[in-house]
Amino acid sequence: MTIKWTTDMSVGVEKIDEQHRELARRINAIYKAVTQDNGPEEVAPVFYFLEEYIVRHFTDEQALMSQYEYPEKDEHLTIHNAFIRDVLSLKIKYEEEGCTPELLEELQERVSDWFVDHVMVRDKALGLFISEKSAQ
Ligand SMILES: [Fe+2]
Ligand SMILES: [Fe+2]
Repeated sequence: MTIKWTTDMSVGVEKIDEQHRELARRINAIYKAVTQDNGPEEVAPVFYFLEEYIVRHFTDEQALMSQYEYPEKDEHLTIHNAFIRDVLSLKIKYEEEGCTPELLEELQERVSDWFVDHVMVRDKALGLFISEKSAQ
């Protein structure tokens, strides 16, 4: 599945939106790798990207949650941690077994699901909370 960025995906914080757009571009690159059979060349940079991205992006969201005293912070962070674990276990699989079609499929599915289930739901809820609190 490819992700086409639309304004309704915006959480209302430009820095976070830009990071989400960056993730959407990567998801599309993974999709291309899966469908065009150039997975082996694409997959290593994707893991490098994801590892760096996860640290940077999750740190920025965490800082916002603290700053705005977001009541669902702990739950949100638990979900971030589960994603970190999943990405790391896929990376270990990649290092042990190489770029198999199953790995590519799994990676593609996990990050696309992440975008739909987390970015468009949980991060949106955070964005809404921040904009409501900022307006007070
Ligand atoms: Fe996010
Ligand atoms: Fe998040």
